[in-house]
Amino acid sequence: MDIRVKTTQAMLQKSACLIVAIHEKRQLSPSAKIIDSLCGNRISHLLKKGDFDGKLGHTRLLDNPEGIAAERIMLVGCGSQKKLNIKVYRKIHVYILNAIKKTNIKNAILYTAELEIKDTTSAEKIRHASEALLEANYCFDEFKSNSTKIIALKTITLDIGNKRELPKAQQALKTANAIASGMDIARRLGNLPGNICTPSYLAKQATNQAKHCKKTKVTVLGEAEMKKLKMGSLLSVSKGSRQPPKLIVIEYKGGKAKDKPYVLVGKGVTFDTGGISLKPGAAMDEMKFDMCGAAGVIGTMAAVSNLQLGINVVAIIPSVENMPDGAASRPGDIVTSMSGQTIEILNTDAEGRLILCDALTYAEKFNPKTVIDTATLTGACVIALGSHCSAVLSNNDKLAQDLLNAGTTSGDRTWEMPLWDDYQDQLKSNFADMANIGGREAGTITAACFLSRFTKKYKWAHLDIAGVAWHSGARKGATGRPVPLLTQYLMNQK
Ligand code: BES
Ligand code: MN
Ligand code: ZN
Repeated sequence: MDIRVKTTQAMLQKSACLIVAIHEKRQLSPSAKIIDSLCGNRISHLLKKGDFDGKLGHTRLLDNPEGIAAERIMLVGCGSQKKLNIKVYRKIHVYILNAIKKTNIKNAILYTAELEIKDTTSAEKIRHASEALLEANYCFDEFKSNSTKIIALKTITLDIGNKRELPKAQQALKTANAIASGMDIARRLGNLPGNICTPSYLAKQATNQAKHCKKTKVTVLGEAEMKKLKMGSLLSVSKGSRQPPKLIVIEYKGGKAKDKPYVLVGKGVTFDTGGISLKPGAAMDEMKFDMCGAAGVIGTMAAVSNLQLGINVVAIIPSVENMPDGAASRPGDIVTSMSGQTIEILNTDAEGRLILCDALTYAEKFNPKTVIDTATLTGACVIALGSHCSAVLSNNDKLAQDLLNAGTTSGDRTWEMPLWDDYQDQLKSNFADMANIGGREAGTITAACFLSRFTKKYKWAHLDIAGVAWHSGARKGATGRPVPLLTQYLMNQK
């Protein structure tokens, strides 16, 4: 599906469908009014009969309208004008795409950029409309014998009223396309099952992607190299699996050679059984999504290269499978991390922090400007924040604020939790420098406290994406988050 922006004149357009907005109760948008008067008040007649009143998400197709060149008109209900905000605006576009999917419409012109949303520019509306349409167009059917991808729609044109706004709108569309393709990549990797998406598979995908991405280089470290680096914590997780561990490093050089890079670290546990501290069976299949931090980072790197950002970015992805096995770690085992600090593994299911800590120590070698790790790290985060936002914890207030702002702009929101020293005590171990769990209370914070012991040398933020990276239930599948948040953060850096 191809999206364009243009200034069009509704009455002249030869299109399969013009899509116009109707607000509750029966309020025609400006373009709907123009089209209505051209086609003999067909829209207002329908509204008067009471068959359509503009309820949010309702759609209605009118065939063969007279007086205009287009073949159809689609009315889309936008709900109350007062309640319209960016979130609702995006939803409207999901409804539109789902309605188009049920038709044979091959091209359409959309008149929704004219809707008024407080403090929102046309360019921002173009960006959110495009992202929502592209997101709704995503389909994962690689393992279906009969493809469900049967959308006839080839192009959608977004109308903007004012020619002068065209350059900014076009830029916004470019951003939306880059973010949406990054999300597609992340969603696909997330949705792939654990028997296919192994650490080696992730490494191969990253390597292949770099071939198409300008200014991008990939290096993959194997078990032997990690042993040499003394990544005892990371390796303790992978040793219970037949799948060899990988440390994937993607380097994008869009800035000057001497510019410090922004480093992204993504948790890549391709399947998390819990290890010897085995998880219960219910919904364990969803632990194939435990590499969504890695997928989000890989998708973000694609977006960054797509947008040709003028900065340097490094992605570091520790990838392992967490399995129970004769060679797996037992509760009580003590390992030595790359940093030299020792860890008592009291629960083998707290494996994410065990691989991240070594990746975070490895990050030091890049002399980073900032380091952001992203991980489906704790079930506690889902309990605390649900699935609307990720959690951010940081050792630097400016970095935390930058991420909060990027979340607001992109719609991929995050919320700060405290990283106070008071919580550090929960990680005390009688036998090693620290334990890998901190008890029942404040699980998201103590996980971040654990990581904070490995990030003292740079500005660092941790994003717990456990609640946002995938949907459960009928919509089960990866969401592509936090690609919008991370890409926005990087776009905002000069
Ligand atoms: N990948 C899980 C976290 C998770 C669980 C995310 C369910 C989303 C849904 C992580 O490796 C894990 O198992 N964490 C444990 C930590 C605990 C043992 C301290 C958890 O959250 O239960
Ligand atoms: Mn786990
Ligand atoms: Zn995990």
